[in-house]
Amino acid sequence: MARTRDYLDKAKCVGINVGGLYEVIASTSDLNGRPHAAPMGALFLSFDSFIMRSYGETVTLRNLRASKRGALNVVDNVELFFDCIFKPGKLSFKWFNGVPVLKGVRAWIFFELEKVINEGQYYEMHCSIVDAKAVRARPKPICRAEASLLEALIHYTRLRYYTAMGRENEVRRLKELIDHHLSIVERTGWPKLRRIAEDLRRKTSAPSNIS
Ligand SMILES: Cc1cc2nc3c(=O)[nH]c(=O)nc-3n(C[C@H](O)[C@H](O)[C@H](O)COP(=O)(O)O)c2cc1C
Repeated sequence: MARTRDYLDKAKCVGINVGGLYEVIASTSDLNGRPHAAPMGALFLSFDSFIMRSYGETVTLRNLRASKRGALNVVDNVELFFDCIFKPGKLSFKWFNGVPVLKGVRAWIFFELEKVINEGQYYEMHCSIVDAKAVRARPKPICRAEASLLEALIHYTRLRYYTAMGRENEVRRLKELIDHHLSIVERTGWPKLRRIAEDLRRKTSAPSNIS
């Protein structure tokens, strides 16, 4: 698929932040034209390229090796992830230049597979973006870092109450939860969110918060 001249602007319009790991649905097809959709995490290295990891020989990896092309469906409805895994018959596809996409989603990012690196525990699929299309206004791709940062903040605000009440077990549990959520932010967030996570981690371990 040839790159459209304005693909960069289009890629910017689908709502991603470079450096973020987004939960999307990758759609591909096999050589018989059978479409397939699977939830995948896509780490955006730039508006030009992203990496997906395939844990094992997934259908997505097999299809991409064969056809070299696919689409990321930008979804803001988590129910679709459930349907992909448990009710694939409910999904409906349409086609763009031989690439299947899901109907009813916010945006599509079309890509080509550049290379696959076998990292032992997983295969790293390096992809280049060739086109993007926002189907509906203001796409909001799902990045787990946002929900986790919110969770960590909520738990943080509860810390001082439990500390004041001397409920050490609860303080310890909250700190574990904060740590868990901040590690998700560090893994999936874009640079600004990662800096906020770092700050919150420092504040959480400040002496006033040590039980
Ligand atoms: C939100 C979400 C994100 C996922 N991310 C990945 C991923 O990055 N890599 C992967 O191999 N499987 C991932 N999975 C699991 C696959 O979608 C699932 O195992 C799928 O059935 C395997 O892919 P396939 O259908 O292409 O064989 C994810 C599942 C969910 C629900």
